Amino acid sequence: MTDGPSVEDGAGQAPDLAALYHREFQGSGEGLMAARAPGRVNLIGEHTDYNEGFVLPVAVDREVRVLGGRRPDRRVEMYSANFERGASFDLDALALRKGDDAWLNLPQGVADALQRAGHHLTGANLVMWGNVPLGAGMSSSAAVEIACLLVLTRLAGLELDPRDEVRLARHAENDFVGVQTGIMDQFASRLGVAGHALLLDCRSLAYAPIPLDLPGIALGVVHSGVPRGLAGSKYNARRAECAAGVRLLQESLPAIRALRDVQPAEFALVEERLPETIRRRCRHVIMEDARVGEAAEALRGGDVARLGDLFARSQASMRDDYAISVPEIDTLVAVALAHGSVASRMTGGGFGGCTVNLVPDERWDAFTRGVMTDYPRLTGRTPTIYRCRAVDGASVEQIA
Ligand code: GLA
Repeated sequence: MTDGPSVEDGAGQAPDLAALYHREFQGSGEGLMAARAPGRVNLIGEHTDYNEGFVLPVAVDREVRVLGGRRPDRRVEMYSANFERGASFDLDALALRKGDDAWLNLPQGVADALQRAGHHLTGANLVMWGNVPLGAGMSSSAAVEIACLLVLTRLAGLELDPRDEVRLARHAENDFVGVQTGIMDQFASRLGVAGHALLLDCRSLAYAPIPLDLPGIALGVVHSGVPRGLAGSKYNARRAECAAGVRLLQESLPAIRALRDVQPAEFALVEERLPETIRRRCRHVIMEDARVGEAAEALRGGDVARLGDLFARSQASMRDDYAISVPEIDTLVAVALAHGSVASRMTGGGFGGCTVNLVPDERWDAFTRGVMTDYPRLTGRTPTIYRCRAVDGASVEQIA
C-alpha cells in the first residue's frame, strides 16, 4: 500500500521466494513446495454465508504465496517478505500471539485445525509474501490460511479433498483466532475459477461458476482507507443477533434451521413479532439471500443495470438494517456512482474496507480521477483503487 491516493493495476511484483528461502534457511529443507492462494471480492451476498445462504464471490489477482521445505523437527520457522522479519512456532505448543508476532496466528490456526482433525504434520521452513491488501475486506486472511495449509499438508505427504481444506482453513479462523466467520472466503480462495464468479450454496457447498462476462466492464475495487480494526467483535455480535433471530422465528416457523430457510414473503408475515434490532438483522440476511439469486441471473444475462440496482439495495440494507457500513463507505459509494461506476457496494465483512464496482472501460479514467479527488476531500481518507481480474483458486506444486 502507498501513502498517497493510488491506482493499482495487475498483481504487483512478487519477490523471488526461492532466493529468499535460501537466504533465510541456508538451503536447508527438502522437497520444496510452492503455493499461491488468491484474495476474493464478493459481488453480493454479505453476511449470508454463516446463515447457510448464498454468496457470489470472485477470486481476484491479488494473492499470497508460500514456499516451504520440510524440517526434521517439530518447529515451523517462518519469514515474512512483507514484514521483513522471521518468527517461529512449535507444532506441539501452539499459542495465540499478540503484538509483532500476531501474523503467526493464522498459520498456527491452520496447523491446529489440521492436527485436531488427526493429521500428522512435520516441521517446516516457510517464506511468505502477499499483495492482498490487509484488513481491506479482500480476504487476506483466507489467502494466508489456504496457502499455508497447502504447503503444510503437502510437506507432510497429505492430499486432502479441497472442500475439507476449505473447512479446515475456516476452523483456523473460528477456533484459533476466534472470529466466527463463514466459509465464503476460504472457498473462493481455494476453488475460484478464472473469468467467473462462484454462486455458492453455503449449506451444501454446491457451487456453480458463473461467467463474469460483461464486455467493456471493469471490476474496480476501492479501499476506503478505513481499516477494519475491531471488526472481529462486531462481526461476532452480528452472528449472535442472527442466531437469536432464528430462535425467535422458530416460534412461528418451527421447521427453519437457519435464516436461509425463511422466504421473504414468510418473513413479512411474522417480522412484527421480532424486536426492532433483531428484525432488521434478519431482514437484511433474508433479502440479501434473495438478491444473490437475482444477481446470478442478471450476471448470466449480462444485465448490468439490474446488477446496479441489486448492489444499491444491498448497500442500503447493509447501512440501514445490518448496520455494518460506515459513513466513509457510504460516501465512497456515492462518489463512485457520480463518477461512472454503474454498480457499487461495500464488499466483505464491513465496518470499513473496500467497495466493489462495475465500471465501463470508457469511464475508468474519469472514475479513478473522480474518486481520488472527491473522496479524500469529503472524508479526509486516502483511497486505493484496484482493477481486478477473476483468477483461478489456489494451487500448489513441488519445485525442488
Ligand atoms: C467476512 C467473513 C465471511 C463473510 C463476510 C461477510 O469476509 O470471513 O465469512 O461472512 O465477512 O459476507
